[in-house]
Amino acid sequence: MSESIQAQLPTSGVPPHELPASLRAAGLTNWIREPLDDAVDRRRRIIFPPAAALIGTPAIGYQGALLAEVLHPDTVFMMGDNPDLPKMPERPRLQDFFQLRFSKIATRHLLQSARVARERGLDEKVITACLLHDIAIAGLLSANHGYWGAQLVAPYVDEEVRWAIEKHEALRYFADESVGYTYPEAYIDYFGPDYQPPDYIRREYEAARRHRWYMTSRLVTINDIYSFDPNVAVDFADFEDVVGRNFRQPEEGLGFDGSPVAHMWRTMIWPNNFL
Ligand SMILES: [Fe+2]
Ligand SMILES: [Fe+2]
Repeated sequence: MSESIQAQLPTSGVPPHELPASLRAAGLTNWIREPLDDAVDRRRRIIFPPAAALIGTPAIGYQGALLAEVLHPDTVFMMGDNPDLPKMPERPRLQDFFQLRFSKIATRHLLQSARVARERGLDEKVITACLLHDIAIAGLLSANHGYWGAQLVAPYVDEEVRWAIEKHEALRYFADESVGYTYPEAYIDYFGPDYQPPDYIRREYEAARRHRWYMTSRLVTINDIYSFDPNVAVDFADFEDVVGRNFRQPEEGLGFDGSPVAHMWRTMIWPNNFL
């Protein structure tokens, strides 16, 4: 190894340097992984937050300062395994995302929705759709989550399940009292009592209302509840049989099967990659 390359490599003697005051003042220290000690190669690793998380917030103004941090020889952008996250298996299966990546609160919501659907004796397609309906919120993106979630699972589930997941987002805003579904109380808290869904959501709802699978998606919304019995613990293992029959796990693992959505699963495996 040439001396010049060796000089660029971080050593244990590199003192951790102070971040620019602007980054500290902006509260952006959580994007920078310090100290060096337990890092894979003793380097500081910068997480460059995705545009979807920054646009519309003051943090967007600090992208330049974050970028400048990698000019330090002991600092690189996060790529590959983030030491703060549990390592995923080489061939990840659906349960690995539930257990190692999805947020705890969303995981609980999904498992409880599926549990209620099963207790009501509903079809396995409905139970599967309930189990998966918010996985985009759990691990990827919240805006347009029905559509992201439907795409994530499209290659692996029945088309009716995919459709029900996609449409639940729009159907949530519209009551159907013939089956006892009213506008969610929670949405009044979330969006205010005067919130009106945009036209594209209304059009999606109207089309879904006429579709032959309408009730499959409507049942997802009926079981999409936020108040659960705190004494009931639900485990993913409780649904292994349903998942086995209704979700075709690719042999190469989710993220590595070359499907049109593999990159979306990889983004959840390595959510902090710079590129
Ligand atoms: Fe949802
Ligand atoms: Fe939900």
